[in-house]
Amino acid sequence: MHEASDTKPGPLVGADVQVPARDGRLSRYVDLDAAATSSASVRVVQAVQDLLPWYSSVHRGAGAKSRYTSARYEEARESVLRLVGADPRTHVVVFTRNTTEALNVLAFRLDLRPEDVVVTTAVEHHANLLPWRRHARLRVVDVDSRGTFGPEQVVAALDRRPVPRVLAVTGASNVTGWVPDLGAIATAARDRGVFVVVDGAQLAPHRPIDMTALGVDALAISGHKMYAPFGSGALVAPRHVFGRGEPLLVGGGTVKAVSFDDVVWADAPDREEAGSPNVLGAVALAAAADELREDWPGLLAHERAVTEALDAELSTVPGLRRYGPTSGDRLPVAAFDLDGVPHGLVAARLSAEYGIGVRSGCFCAHPYMARLLGLTEAQVDQFHRDARSGDRRLPGAVRASGNRATSLRDVAVLGDALRAIAATPEAALRYRVDVHGDHVPVDGPDRAAPGLDRVPTELASSPSA
Ligand code: ALA
Repeated sequence: MHEASDTKPGPLVGADVQVPARDGRLSRYVDLDAAATSSASVRVVQAVQDLLPWYSSVHRGAGAKSRYTSARYEEARESVLRLVGADPRTHVVVFTRNTTEALNVLAFRLDLRPEDVVVTTAVEHHANLLPWRRHARLRVVDVDSRGTFGPEQVVAALDRRPVPRVLAVTGASNVTGWVPDLGAIATAARDRGVFVVVDGAQLAPHRPIDMTALGVDALAISGHKMYAPFGSGALVAPRHVFGRGEPLLVGGGTVKAVSFDDVVWADAPDREEAGSPNVLGAVALAAAADELREDWPGLLAHERAVTEALDAELSTVPGLRRYGPTSGDRLPVAAFDLDGVPHGLVAARLSAEYGIGVRSGCFCAHPYMARLLGLTEAQVDQFHRDARSGDRRLPGAVRASGNRATSLRDVAVLGDALRAIAATPEAALRYRVDVHGDHVPVDGPDRAAPGLDRVPTELASSPSA
């Protein structure tokens, strides 16, 4: 088994960045916001740098550079197919900006009618709710007080009438790290002829996925959550989904022939990729996929140790309330709050005093957070009224999330900081709420980077790998 504190598969860029913390001293930035986005891996950056001298147009040029770039772009699809265990005879990779765009494309292309039913769950983040709601009716599998559901609840939703067209479920929660039993859920849906869509944004950087073995029809991933923050995500879906009809975005690259009154659409995946593609993003995503595939045992062992450390550390913080399950299959993600301290203040103090980066709020998963927080319908209505009136002090929690680069030391630093924050509530007086609703030190600037004006330029601009 890997020693979690030191042996971390594949280094990331920026691991030694220093930021101002207490008393203006610099301290190593502790990145515990991996569920939002991850730093680039050194190998991904190398792949991008290797392509740059050859950078040219994809499928739009006769020159050697263009042919090389086009080949790398097409190879990138193969890396993504391999990462997620999709069958290249039946499935295609459409490059998108991210999971959100991928799910919007898919929801548009599934030819849903307003009366069609999409089964989804209360765990989903907005990317796996809003696109479906735009095209069909939602049937939502609800969660228990731990924020989880069982496969039998999904089966019950699948068996209700009218028969659903689609099951859209997350591979792992971005809020609690909970990993649903995808195998059982997907099998039940496939047995009933329901098209299975998995939001793999959180799962893909943390677990091997085998779409073919699981019986998953379509999957969406984001490069920026899996060490490739170069603007590409992907939709992996059966080729036949794109066989008829118009793509969501139309333009160059999507066609074989155009006149003023006719268009002959290209075959998938080209039909779905309007405009010059982001080849650097695709190559970055492919490098991340190849790197992930090389050491799953090491990565799984490491992240299991980080998850256990997070559980143990948070359980010792006075007044800390966890949201979501603390046992069973989970990613290294923890949502919590501290008794009597606003979630935004906890996050701001972690940053300003301890150099720790976390996220606070509702994590683009408002319905799930409302359930985890136990909000009543009246409180949810109030939340919406407040949001409409521009009040930005909204309900929420703090989230600490790790990945392969997180060390046990990072987790211990978080525990020490939270215990200190819990013990010094009077420090709240040193913070104010700025015009954006963010907590900031009273003597600091508005907006989200208190103190960064004090980072020496050379440190801010030249982080090494
Ligand atoms: N879904 C992203 C997060 O969890 C944005 O922070």
